[in-house]
Amino acid sequence: IKMHEDSGKEFTMVTCSAPVNIAVIKYWGKRDEELILPINSSLSVTLHQDQLKTTTTVACSRLFQEDRIWLNGKEEDITQPRLQSCLREIRCLACKRRSDGEADVDTAGLSHKVHICSVNNFPTAAGLASSAAGYACLVYTLSRVMGVEGELSVVSRQGSGSACRSMYGGFVQWIMGQQGDGKDSLAQQVEPETHWPELRVLVLVVSAERKPVGSTSGMQTSVETSILLKHRADSVVPARMKEMIEAVHKRDFTAFAELTMKDSNQFHATCLDTYPPIFYLNDVSRRVINLVHRYNRHYRETKVAYTFDAGPNAVIYTLQQNVEEFVQVVKYFFPPETNGGQFLKGLPVAPTTLSEELKQAIGMEPMVKGICYIISTKAGPGPRVVEDPSEHLLGSDGLPKESA
Ligand code: DP6
Repeated sequence: IKMHEDSGKEFTMVTCSAPVNIAVIKYWGKRDEELILPINSSLSVTLHQDQLKTTTTVACSRLFQEDRIWLNGKEEDITQPRLQSCLREIRCLACKRRSDGEADVDTAGLSHKVHICSVNNFPTAAGLASSAAGYACLVYTLSRVMGVEGELSVVSRQGSGSACRSMYGGFVQWIMGQQGDGKDSLAQQVEPETHWPELRVLVLVVSAERKPVGSTSGMQTSVETSILLKHRADSVVPARMKEMIEAVHKRDFTAFAELTMKDSNQFHATCLDTYPPIFYLNDVSRRVINLVHRYNRHYRETKVAYTFDAGPNAVIYTLQQNVEEFVQVVKYFFPPETNGGQFLKGLPVAPTTLSEELKQAIGMEPMVKGICYIISTKAGPGPRVVEDPSEHLLGSDGLPKESA
């Protein structure tokens, strides 16, 4: 069972990677801060790890004096409550397995300390929610080191709510659950990533002046002050979840896209209904919203959808056949800086020409440098073990390698 581990008596090391997910029915608001239990269910698309992922190495050794963690090259405080929750819960699962009499379980993690090293393959400065991939990867890697199975999404949920959805690939729902202990508040795959291969995702990284209010404190203020949020959670989301699951099952892009945009808009309306109000969308975000609606109106068809999380970046969902033209539209209306890196990263998109008719129908004044770059991607699989030992982020001394 020590398959993925380095052999050697006093050292166990495992490296895994985990994906980012982008919600199409948003999670916003907790009923329990400590356990991270939400006031409504949510649904997301797991993005492909070729473009966006977190990689984590966990080493476990009797020689380590204490638990330690390095994130993107910098040592961080391991005593943070959310990190402690994940470590405690995984050790608890390992302990249960041992007491259940499973002799093959490697229980070294119970008495031994761990060193954790984690990196993202995308810049943190891009303002992409990295906590979901980060906690999903941490929990998945710890579970492999300690040889535990079980409901891992319940564990990663306690690191960051949205992280529970990154435990699966494709289309994933987080069922809010009813119990006080949170055992029924877990993620479930609705459809695998292979279900809808034509679906494509564009992350439009918007240049932001300052760091927005974090989701944790933002949603706390919303729960305390917004009656619209209460109405949303009680009376809107339950029906929307059903419709969204149906749209995904049927690969009904129009239904999927309209629900996605409406749910993003309602989430941002609850932010505005929060007192004092929270603004996540900026001028560029609102231009993207207008652009999408004008594009769809021109074709009298919902070909493109937007969604926004707790920041100004737009995430676009569309189908393969529309990607080339829509990317060209974005380039035209948000002309990139000519110096500096590539404007389009990720899956290749061929350039195309836009008709004058389309440009006129959209009829907006181009805005230079509004969007820094585009990451082109699609739905992808859940966490995985990285088998190649040269990919370990920790060296044989248990400390981060140069590159990590
Ligand atoms: C707007 O999962 O980051 O992205 O549970 O406090 O860690 P915590 O919050 P987090 O919130 C994500 C909010 C969102 C919507 C979503 O992903 O569903």
